[in-house]
Amino acid sequence: MKYDFDKIDNRKDTGSIKWDMMNEFYGRDDLIPLWIADMDFPVAKEIKEAIKERADHEYYGYSKYNHTLKSTIVKRFKDKFNWEIKPEWIVITPGVIPALHVAIRSLSQPGDNIIIQEPVYHLFFPTVRNSGCHIVTNPLKLENGEYHMDLNHLKSLFEDEVGHNPFYKPIKAILLCNPHNPIGKEWSKEELIEAGKIAIKNGLKIVVDEIHSELLFYGKQHTSFGSISKEFEQNSIISFSATKTFNLAGLHVGVAIIPNDDLRKEFISTMDGIVPEPSIFALTALEASLKHGDEWLNQVLKYLEGNLELLYEELSNINGITAIKADGTYLIWLDCRKLGLSHEELSDFFINKAKVALEDGILFGHGGEGFMRINIAIPKSLLKEGLKRIKDAINEL
Ligand SMILES: Cc1ncc(COP(=O)(O)O)c(C=O)c1O
Repeated sequence: MKYDFDKIDNRKDTGSIKWDMMNEFYGRDDLIPLWIADMDFPVAKEIKEAIKERADHEYYGYSKYNHTLKSTIVKRFKDKFNWEIKPEWIVITPGVIPALHVAIRSLSQPGDNIIIQEPVYHLFFPTVRNSGCHIVTNPLKLENGEYHMDLNHLKSLFEDEVGHNPFYKPIKAILLCNPHNPIGKEWSKEELIEAGKIAIKNGLKIVVDEIHSELLFYGKQHTSFGSISKEFEQNSIISFSATKTFNLAGLHVGVAIIPNDDLRKEFISTMDGIVPEPSIFALTALEASLKHGDEWLNQVLKYLEGNLELLYEELSNINGITAIKADGTYLIWLDCRKLGLSHEELSDFFINKAKVALEDGILFGHGGEGFMRINIAIPKSLLKEGLKRIKDAINEL
C-alpha cells in the first residue's frame, strides 16, 4: 500500500501533546509544531487493523502478552541486528524510559553514580536522579561538526584514587543512547567497543537506549550493543521499542533485553508491583508492527530522507544555523551559535519571531546551549513553512 505522508490530518483537540499543548510549553499556539518526538504520519494500516480486531474481542481483562510476541522479537533482532537473542532474555515493559528507571534502580543504591553523555535525551536526567543516584557527565566532543564520545575523559573518571575522588560513592553504570538523541548519531562499532571495554574494566554495567535503532537513513546499519561480544551481552541491559519506529508513542510499550540471569532477576524484582504490564492494545500494536510494519517503515524512511535533504538545502540559505549531519532519528540538532543570541534571545527568536516550536537545546544538558532540536517527521509543506518562517525571521534580525 502506498501511504500519502504529504496529507495534513487535523491532530488538534485529540489530546496530542505536540498540537494541543503548545500554549503550556511555549506560551502561544500559533506555532508550527516541530518539537516532541512523534511523527505527523498515520500509522501502518496493519497496526490499525490489529488494534481494531483486538477491540472487537470484547474482553479487556487482565492480560499477558501473546505467546508469539517473544518469538517475534527474537526474529526481529536476528533480521535487523544479526543478534541471536533468547526469548527468556526478554522483559516486556510499558516503555523505554520506565525500563531505564528500573535498570538504574536494579543496578545501584541511592547515592551511587551513573555516567551519561551530554547533550542527551532530557529524560535521562530524572531517570538517574529519581532513582536517588548522581549524574557523572562524560560530555560529548564536537569536532569539525561531528560528535564523538570523549573516551579519554571517560577513562579519567576512574583514575583518581578513593580519597581524591570527588565521587565518594561508586560509579555503577553508564547509560548510552544509540542512536543518540538529540544529535542523530549511530555510534561506530569501534566507539561502542571502546566505551564498553572501559565500563566493564571498571566494574560498570552498560544500559543502552536503542529506541531509535530502526530509524536510520540510507540503509545504515545499527549495532545493537549486546551483539558485539558475549562479554558485552552479559554486562548490558538493552532497552528497545517499536514505538518510535512505528509512531506508537501514545500506546506505551517497550522491551528490555537482559541476557544475564542475575541482572534480569534483579530487574524483574525491581519492577514488581510498581511497573504494570502494557495495555492489551499496546502489546497488539507492538507485535503487529514488528511483523507487518516494514512496508510502511520503508516509505517513512524515504520520506524522512527527503525531509532531511530539504532541511539541509534550506539551511544552506540561512545564515547562522547549521545542522549536525544525522545518521538517523527524525530529530535533528541545529547549531545556532553563530546567530550570536543569548539563550533567552534564541528562545524568544524561535517562538515569538519565527513562530516555530522547536526543542530548546539546554533541555539536553551540557553542550546544549546555542542549539535547538527540530523534528522533521511532518508533512513536507509544513516543514517548508516552518523553515520559511525561520529564514524570514532571520532576515529581520
Ligand atoms: C532516546 C529516547 N528514549 C526514550 C524515549 C521515550 O521512550 P518511551 O516513550 O518508550 O518511554 C524517547 C522519546 O523521544 C527517546 O528519544
